Amino acid sequence: MKIGFFGAGHMGSAMIQGFINSGEVKPTDILVKGGRSQTAANRQSEMGFRLIDQLEEMADADLLVVAVNPGAVLPILEALPANVTNKKIPLVSVAAGVNLPEMAEVLGEDYPLAHCIPNTPVQVNEGLLGISYSEQLRSADKDAIDQTLQLLGSLVEIDEHLLGIVGSVAGCGPAFVDLFIEALSDAGVLYGLNRELSYQIAEQMTKGAAELALQSKKHPGELKDGVATPGGTTIKGVVALEKHGFRNAVIEGIKGTME
Ligand SMILES: NC(=O)c1ccc[n+]([C@@H]2O[C@H](COP(=O)([O-])OP(=O)(O)OC[C@H]3O[C@@H](n4cnc5c(N)ncnc54)[C@H](OP(=O)(O)O)[C@@H]3O)[C@@H](O)[C@H]2O)c1
Repeated sequence: MKIGFFGAGHMGSAMIQGFINSGEVKPTDILVKGGRSQTAANRQSEMGFRLIDQLEEMADADLLVVAVNPGAVLPILEALPANVTNKKIPLVSVAAGVNLPEMAEVLGEDYPLAHCIPNTPVQVNEGLLGISYSEQLRSADKDAIDQTLQLLGSLVEIDEHLLGIVGSVAGCGPAFVDLFIEALSDAGVLYGLNRELSYQIAEQMTKGAAELALQSKKHPGELKDGVATPGGTTIKGVVALEKHGFRNAVIEGIKGTME
């Protein structure tokens, strides 16, 4: 399987790393067309993908991924050469804010398109990818897109108008969780843990709590209740967090991303 990337910035290279880690895609089967700076060339030397000069070379790909700044998406689609568009190679854009009707206006209603918002854990194959498909997408193209992107994590099909909030919760969320881990670790250090150990504990705890919630499918409140012994330390901590507006702060954080 060959995958063609436009852009190897933060998201492009996170996805490329995930594909390589999956063991299903060889680095040399990833074709990358970079932008004006050295970004893609620098990543190429670390990751070993194939950097291309001529857009015609993208005709070798089975799937195209557009991972550039939103303003560059439509010009890239307009510049796709005939040997690529004639083959109707399925194309996935991961850019926020450029929707399927705008892309279909350039490539045609029958071009196989998807709009996907991934998050950075795709890099370790634990991503959450919200995805919407063009209306006329054939099921064989949808299957090809899904099977490829599932190498990076879990796909959630969603109406395109909801991709923004998926992007906020799943795409911005990792930064919130990183802040949480950092704060927990600071508290561990305050009470005597060394920094490295404190990060390790906070990170594994976060991963384990998420895994337990996923696997048990229990309501988060029920899981919380299971930790909070009556009159015990956990409930005292929960009360302190509520006093300081923990849940409201998280909701306001997401509202901030949606402005
Ligand atoms: N970062 C995230 O967590 C995240 C999450 C979901 C979706 N996204 C979406 O992913 C897209 C990229 O975001 P990013 O964070 O990866 O930004 P980024 O780090 O700035 O990467 C964008 C890359 O696109 C390249 N580029 C620009 N014009 C190009 C062109 N005409 N042909 C080929 N490459 C071109 C740039 O190359 P140069 O460096 O050479 O200019 C740059 O490396 C955005 O549309 C964003 O909405 C990002």
